[in-house]
Amino acid sequence: MAPDLTTRFTGLDFVNPFVLASAPPTESKRKILKAFEAGWGGVVTKTIGLHPVENVAGPKTIYQRTSEEKPYVSRMKRPDTVSHSSWNWELISDQPLEQWLPDLEEIKATYPDRMVIASIMAGAGSDEEMENWKKLARACVGVGCDALELNMSCPHMDRKDMGAHIANDEDIIRSVLKAVTEAVDVPIWVKLTPATSTLVDAAGAAYEAGASSISLCNTFPSLPLMDPETMKFEVEVDGLVTSGGLGGLAILPQALQRVSDISRAYPDGAISGIGGIKGFREAFNFIAHGAGNLQVCTAAMEEKGSGGVGVKLIQELTGDLADFLERKGFDSIEAFRGIARERVVEHSKIRRKSEDYNGGYAQSPDAA
Ligand SMILES: Cc1cc2nc3c(=O)[nH]c(=O)nc-3n(C[C@H](O)[C@H](O)[C@H](O)COP(=O)(O)O)c2cc1C
Repeated sequence: MAPDLTTRFTGLDFVNPFVLASAPPTESKRKILKAFEAGWGGVVTKTIGLHPVENVAGPKTIYQRTSEEKPYVSRMKRPDTVSHSSWNWELISDQPLEQWLPDLEEIKATYPDRMVIASIMAGAGSDEEMENWKKLARACVGVGCDALELNMSCPHMDRKDMGAHIANDEDIIRSVLKAVTEAVDVPIWVKLTPATSTLVDAAGAAYEAGASSISLCNTFPSLPLMDPETMKFEVEVDGLVTSGGLGGLAILPQALQRVSDISRAYPDGAISGIGGIKGFREAFNFIAHGAGNLQVCTAAMEEKGSGGVGVKLIQELTGDLADFLERKGFDSIEAFRGIARERVVEHSKIRRKSEDYNGGYAQSPDAA
């Protein structure tokens, strides 16, 4: 009998734990329907907002590659390269809420067994912005969305009351969750930025204020590279760039560390793991650190001939997970979820060759 890939996560039943992350693969009804046809267990829609959006007058995303022969990172086409990362400065969806709503309703009616999580974003610091969160939440849930993901992590916002800027502020996190949980009664996922030293506290505040799960990671703030020959950035508009977001394989180890930090601090808190998933090995690692759901963006966008939704990718992910469960005799991902948690310890807890090293302290704090 084929292993069962169904996964219960934040009270929702997923036919498999693989979800397309909020990004171009989930930017339209056409793409989401194609993704579901291919077999994805769910989608988090491209982030929906109420403020006007106009993207830069140039490419919004580039794919950076490297090779053994010439192992520099560049978007330049070269033979025998492998994917290193995506870099983007794309804003949230430019499709207005009014257009999203009938689309979401149709998607949910066409695929009732797939989970549709609406990613939403508004500002902070005023009653008006709290009303905006509520309006977005009510509207998306009203047309059948199964859950919401609150975008507190967009890395390229000038507005200081939005995106990654607010993920450092526990009061704002709590106030947004209060507004949204008052407005709707579905699981609320909160997507945080990895680019903060207060991530664990932010996650704690979100869980405490009613978040059902933390989604991690959004892209890492970063710059595109300059080409020494042309002395230009590999992506720019009128010679200028601004901070954008790095995704794909290059962020995997960093994303895992962030997920591990949250998972060890809140072992009972749900986590949707994101960042560099390209196949089962990466997914396995997120699950080992405690994630109960997996989101994928860059690898799906990069798959040629899939319309940017990862048609082959979802078949490989589900096939490889099923093989793994069968080989190991596991019933579900719960059988190995979190196995890495207790194996990540403080530096001084790692064995030295001598017996009496206490992490540089004259007296170990644990010695008493
Ligand atoms: C072009 C592009 C657009 C994105 N737009 C959004 C967005 O609107 N909302 C959001 O929460 N995350 C957005 N993301 C971040 C992804 O959802 C994801 O968190 C990130 O790319 C890391 O996953 P990956 O390594 O699989 O790409 C975007 C990423 C890319 C590459």
